[in-house]
Amino acid sequence: MTAGSVRLGIIGLGNMGQTHCRLVARIPDITLTAVCDIDPARLEKMVAKTGARGFRTPGRLLASGICDAVLIATPHYGHTTIGKQALKHGLHVLVEKPISVHKADCEKLIAAHQDEAQVFAAMFNQRTNAQYQRIREMVRGGELGAVRRVHWAITDWFRSQAYYDSGGWRATWAHEGGGVLMNQCPHQLDLLQWIFGMPSALQAFCHLGKHHRIEVEDDVTCYLEYPDGATGVFTTTTGEAPGVNRLEIAAENGLLVHDAQQGTLTFTRNDKPVTRAIAENEGFKAPSTDRITIDIEDTGRQHAEILENFASAILHGTPLIAHASEGIHSVELANAMLYSSWTGKRVELPLDSARYARRLKRQIRESTFVKQAASGVVATDMDESF
Ligand SMILES: NC(=O)c1ccc[n+]([C@@H]2O[C@H](COP(=O)([O-])OP(=O)(O)OC[C@H]3O[C@@H](n4cnc5c(N)ncnc54)[C@H](O)[C@@H]3O)[C@@H](O)[C@H]2O)c1
Repeated sequence: MTAGSVRLGIIGLGNMGQTHCRLVARIPDITLTAVCDIDPARLEKMVAKTGARGFRTPGRLLASGICDAVLIATPHYGHTTIGKQALKHGLHVLVEKPISVHKADCEKLIAAHQDEAQVFAAMFNQRTNAQYQRIREMVRGGELGAVRRVHWAITDWFRSQAYYDSGGWRATWAHEGGGVLMNQCPHQLDLLQWIFGMPSALQAFCHLGKHHRIEVEDDVTCYLEYPDGATGVFTTTTGEAPGVNRLEIAAENGLLVHDAQQGTLTFTRNDKPVTRAIAENEGFKAPSTDRITIDIEDTGRQHAEILENFASAILHGTPLIAHASEGIHSVELANAMLYSSWTGKRVELPLDSARYARRLKRQIRESTFVKQAASGVVATDMDESF
């Protein structure tokens, strides 16, 4: 630590790593001392821009002694390998989402975190959104009553073919380990478990390369079952436009609807709980309702807030917004959806992590997909993964 500031190294200087470099320059509690990328041109550019010391390999950066903490923003498989090494070096770690590609890798990464004094966080920036915080409070605090049904349609993750062609690691089983569930949806899958807890079972239908020339899923519909009898439907795609981002929660005390595109949160409140209305009301008479618009415009400061929280946890012991160990849940949900789709069966949770790793490995082995116009430097970093 230098004069009350965390000496940070950023590993992976692509889209996200470059954004993080810009963001940390404005955070007084963080000094960017090191940057690392296997792509020499990217590395050189960032060294020139930030004045941080450059490293061609994560191992050298981790052993350099000039960092108290690292932020890992490489393609996903690397999160496990580099995360484990960083923890072994006694560094604080902030890992991008997803924390790993499959549940067994999450278990390995989490098991490597032995020292509670080491801060271990994940970049679940959407948790900083005050609207999701309010929804969580209303669900967990009991204002909604028991939840009966959850429906999240998150179909506004539109991506073009050019996007998929832009990086050699994207949308491949071997280098990304999945598609929309592994790249775009870790945010919503994290929020889903953060708000409602984990389901006890699910059945999913994942369409591989339905809208794009890719080998992984780009269209998913999943039916979820919760331990208390509540059910859910989760739908996502990168191939629809215009898409929606709409979360509906049907509960005993009414219907809560969040429309992320409109930025609205609306509670249509019942005059009596649904169960009582079913037992007491006549014929077609549903409960009477009043409509409450919940006025929250704050969508959070996202990545900057997670970075500040990480530094504050290191310097002052501030509780984390997202502990990295919680990142296993969104990965398990994504894995279970793919597994269910591959086997055509309902999957009970917890998922057998070793079985899933074997199935994913088979998917990689049997892949005959040849990426068109693939570009970029692809790091495998997969030795730890199977
Ligand atoms: N939190 C968010 O909102 C958000 C948004 C986008 C991406 N991400 C995550 O960030 C990660 C990176 O995504 P991206 O879009 O920046 O990818 P990218 O392809 O643009 O960048 C990845 C960079 O990592 C480098 N790299 C690969 N292997 C490396 C290694 N072993 N050591 C050092 N550098 C290595 C590549 O050369 C490349 O520059 C992904 O895990 C992704 O899920 C998070």
